[in-house]
Amino acid sequence: MLFNTSPEKFWNLIAKKYAADPIADRQAYEIKIDKLKTWMKSEMTVLDIGCATGTQCGDIADSVHKVTGIDISSKLLAIAQQRIDERDIRNVEFIETSAFDEQFEPGSFDVVMTFHVLHFFENLDVIVKRIHDLLKPGGVFISETGCLADRSKFLVNTLKIMGAAGLLPRITMLKDQQLQESLQQNGFTIVDRTKYSQQPDNEFTYVAIKS
Ligand SMILES: C[S@@+](CC[C@H](N)C(=O)[O-])C[C@H]1O[C@@H](n2cnc3c(N)ncnc32)[C@H](O)[C@@H]1O
Repeated sequence: MLFNTSPEKFWNLIAKKYAADPIADRQAYEIKIDKLKTWMKSEMTVLDIGCATGTQCGDIADSVHKVTGIDISSKLLAIAQQRIDERDIRNVEFIETSAFDEQFEPGSFDVVMTFHVLHFFENLDVIVKRIHDLLKPGGVFISETGCLADRSKFLVNTLKIMGAAGLLPRITMLKDQQLQESLQQNGFTIVDRTKYSQQPDNEFTYVAIKS
């Protein structure tokens, strides 16, 4: 390995640039958030794993009781906190930790969200099982993630080389089919699978219910 960039270090290094990037398709994003809010109620608690700058946390906060955004990057979380304060949103908290932190008890959330983060976990089934565990019975799992194994071989190989060189955090090359199977095999029923943006390489957004 040329460089030994831990995931935390990587995300801290690119935090400012990441935060400056605008949402690629703002109209599709707003339609998606409105649709996802239909699964939420004012008494619900939400966990957003890999929340980064807290955009989705802030955008759904008015529909639920409380949002907890977690991330491994202290720099991204500092930006998230600043943005939430600027918007004067009071029911969002950010914690620098992982989804496996024992402070999160089984059955403690109504909704768990993961946007563009599942592919950073080494084992998809392990994180899907953990999310199932964290949800209350009937809880809602919302996920949108890069299924890079479905993309061009050139991209996959480039990412693998950059990963092996330590320039990128480890990325698990998922397939959309594999994601569906993991959800179903780990106790979820998929109730919605929608591609909101027509931009190339846009991902499906899944809504799955803990059964
Ligand atoms: C591509 S960004 C997505 C951010 C945000 N969810 C969004 O869609 O805009 C991936 C985020 O996941 C975080 N992350 C990576 N591995 C993680 C892990 N094991 N636990 C929690 N967060 C993680 C990174 O720090 C980064 O903020």
